[in-house]
Amino acid sequence: MPEITLPEVELNIYGPKDPVEVPVVENYIITKESSPNFVRHITFDVSGTELEGKIKVGQSVGIFPPGKNERGRDYKLRLYSVSSPNGGEHGKPNLISTTVKRTIEELDNKLYIGVASNYLADLQPGDMVKISGPSGKRFLLPEKEKEFNYLFFATGTGIAPYRGMIMELFEKGDYQNECALIFGCPYRTDVLYSDYFEKMAQEHSNFHYLKSISRESRRKDGSKHYVQTKIKDEEELLLPILKKKNTLVYICGLKGMEAGIYKELLRLGLDEYLDIRKKLPDDLNDIPRNDIKKFMKPSARTFEEVY
Ligand code: A2P
Repeated sequence: MPEITLPEVELNIYGPKDPVEVPVVENYIITKESSPNFVRHITFDVSGTELEGKIKVGQSVGIFPPGKNERGRDYKLRLYSVSSPNGGEHGKPNLISTTVKRTIEELDNKLYIGVASNYLADLQPGDMVKISGPSGKRFLLPEKEKEFNYLFFATGTGIAPYRGMIMELFEKGDYQNECALIFGCPYRTDVLYSDYFEKMAQEHSNFHYLKSISRESRRKDGSKHYVQTKIKDEEELLLPILKKKNTLVYICGLKGMEAGIYKELLRLGLDEYLDIRKKLPDDLNDIPRNDIKKFMKPSARTFEEVY
């Protein structure tokens, strides 16, 4: 097993009290036309700021929506994962991208429109945005990233960091190990960046692109297709990768998804991905989802960003 050393990263070059203003250079929709959801790919130009070339994929930036909340206070910053590679979007170190889903919900008979996501999604090229960061020092590719295999699990906009990570692995020199991306979303119209990932899967036999579409069909036992059910449904492909000594697991997206993945890893006896803290019940389903962290945490081989 090669040593898992995470790269040194810069943190809060611009702190939350000291954001910098940068222009938007592109903002385009990435959900399909017929989708009821709106996810956008947004790129900022950080030229002339200290952020240029300093943000690593897996890190986040803080965004400050303008205006005040109902208590008359400035809106707080919201963190968004960077989806461009270390060298920047379009190979330019001054361009960083993120992936934003408009939050539109009905709560208690009232429409709720997420402040930050809709502010970002409405932006036009040339508009200025206050950003801080970068933040995050754990959800990163290790140094010597090409020496590892990866299972990347994403739900929804949790795909963002993997876009840049896959660019790092496959577009810079020769990557010979195995990488599987397992992406979950409700409908086919919500699959994000699929043209890019399909192309990568066609061009690289060591890149495996699996989609779990949860609301269009059911598995044989009637359960939904979730990212964790792919571990069972694609066991022939995924188990040999998981059993290798130099494999890392990454989990990004909806809070709760990690519990399902942990249970599948344990079912297969792959305890090395977890740090077990308490005696497990015979039936893992007896552990309530919200209690899972009392029983186990990610080990050094598992990276997690859930929200
Ligand atoms: P569903 O909502 O059908 O239950 P998005 O962020 O685009 O809505 O996608 C999130 C995806 O993650 C959906 O397919 C959603 O399925 C699925 N999902 C919901 N809960 C879990 C969970 N606990 N584990 C894994 N996937 C989940």
